[in-house]
Amino acid sequence: MARGIVVGPATTEADWVGARKCILELFDWILECTAFDVLQHLADARQEIADLRTYYSPPFRRLFVGRIDGRVVATMGLKLDADGRAEVRRVWTRRSARGRGISHRLLQRVTKEAERLGARCLWLRTAPTFMLAAQRLYVRSGFQPVTFYQWPAGAGEVEVLEMERGLASFLSRNS
Ligand SMILES: CC(C)(COP(=O)(O)OP(=O)(O)OC[C@H]1O[C@@H](n2cnc3c(N)ncnc32)[C@H](O)[C@@H]1OP(=O)(O)O)[C@@H](O)C(=O)NCCC(=O)NCCS
Repeated sequence: MARGIVVGPATTEADWVGARKCILELFDWILECTAFDVLQHLADARQEIADLRTYYSPPFRRLFVGRIDGRVVATMGLKLDADGRAEVRRVWTRRSARGRGISHRLLQRVTKEAERLGARCLWLRTAPTFMLAAQRLYVRSGFQPVTFYQWPAGAGEVEVLEMERGLASFLSRNS
């Protein structure tokens, strides 16, 4: 296991500040790649970034972070929907920290949390044209494509792929 890497829920003020920086980097990168301005077009994202701690209040939402030597370098959010699906969101590792297994570990941690909450599956939205490393991570972790669309209509050219993965704990409880 890589030394100095710790993953877990954001708890301290430094965690929330570091996580906000990561998520804003993700939005900037999406803007560079697509000309789609997340904060301009999505009110929910504006609300999220204005107060991450409130937006990701437990038990049904959690923001996990990856830290190297105590500094936040990666994020992964979890949001349990009313239909029992759990969304994985805000997947970002700062460039200098990539390729060290942080997202893989965050996804394991998020999966465990979704199972603890009784979710029936994980789902996520990704961009098939440029989020290629993320798709390798998702496919390796058992996600499968569900649907593909342009989103949101009229607000830029963003191609979206939704992917889903069943959760073993739910399947064993309900089979
Ligand atoms: C996708 C992303 C989050 C992956 O983060 P990461 O922390 O680098 O992910 P990991 O380190 O777990 O895996 C990345 C690669 O390193 C490899 N790796 C994992 N652990 C490793 C280790 N200990 N040593 C060497 N390589 C390792 C993985 O096999 C993987 O290889 P691949 O790229 O050939 O598939 C990151 O690339 C990113 O932020 N991308 C831009 C944002 C994005 O697309 N977000 C998705 C939104 S839906």
